[in-house]
Amino acid sequence: MSDIEAPGDTERLTEAVLGQVQGDSARVNQLLSALIRHLHAFVRETRPTPQEWRYGLDFLVRTGDFCTPERHEFILLSDLAGLSALVDALSNTGPDSMTPTTVEGPFHTPAPPRELGAIIATGAEWDRGDWTVLHGQVRDCDGVPVPGAQIDVWQSDDHGFYDVQDDAQDTGNLRGLLTADADGRYWVRTVKPSSYPVPVDGTGGELLRAMNRHPMRPAHIHAQVTAPGFRPTTTHLFVAGDQYLGSDAAWGVRDGLVVEFTRNPEGADIKRFDVPGPFFDVNFDFFLVPEG
Ligand SMILES: [Fe+2]
Repeated sequence: MSDIEAPGDTERLTEAVLGQVQGDSARVNQLLSALIRHLHAFVRETRPTPQEWRYGLDFLVRTGDFCTPERHEFILLSDLAGLSALVDALSNTGPDSMTPTTVEGPFHTPAPPRELGAIIATGAEWDRGDWTVLHGQVRDCDGVPVPGAQIDVWQSDDHGFYDVQDDAQDTGNLRGLLTADADGRYWVRTVKPSSYPVPVDGTGGELLRAMNRHPMRPAHIHAQVTAPGFRPTTTHLFVAGDQYLGSDAAWGVRDGLVVEFTRNPEGADIKRFDVPGPFFDVNFDFFLVPEG
């Protein structure tokens, strides 16, 4: 016997499908059931034609076609639709003193380990200037230093490109895995990142055009900080004053993550940090949340 006896009996179809979700894991059952329930509700609300539904399915296929080991178009879609920001906001709650987390974005790759103070801008961008010294301390939410914390940083160059997008950059450029010292302190030399457009040649671009949104992300340095006993902190340091802070295509900007890149006057601390000339001084402490 059919599960639908009449065209109007669509609720019974939804209930029948939900009744078939009988996996071994309660969590998987919960996730699948909610997904089916919400998708059925979406169809009921919007009543797509079969052609429109097929367009949606083909959109997902094309999204997969744009994915490579270096490019994850589904992450980009998730970012642009605000879903990554929503997952992050609901998952990473904690004390007011914690460093706010934000989206990881689609450009994270394993970073080469670097000594404290290393220059991670190993290409032509270093010679173009905009030298930047990023330094600070990793602490817990009570302010106690976290010795040996690992700080994974990655960023675009001063033209807005990551190494994975730009054949002129060596793999691993503008990336580094740092290990904080015994006082939780870290420092690294780099260049000031630029705001940049997310890739718009794939389905992410289609989504943006359909929403009539610009593709720009405000300039930022990504950081992922880990230490035994603490929840991993994935976040950004946004450049204060960037024109796109109020309209980030990826919805990633949070209070507490907008950081001054203070232009150091000629001579000040140049010797201390061993940079070729006046530089941007960025001081940022990370405050980690204990696991559990
Ligand atoms: Fe980014």
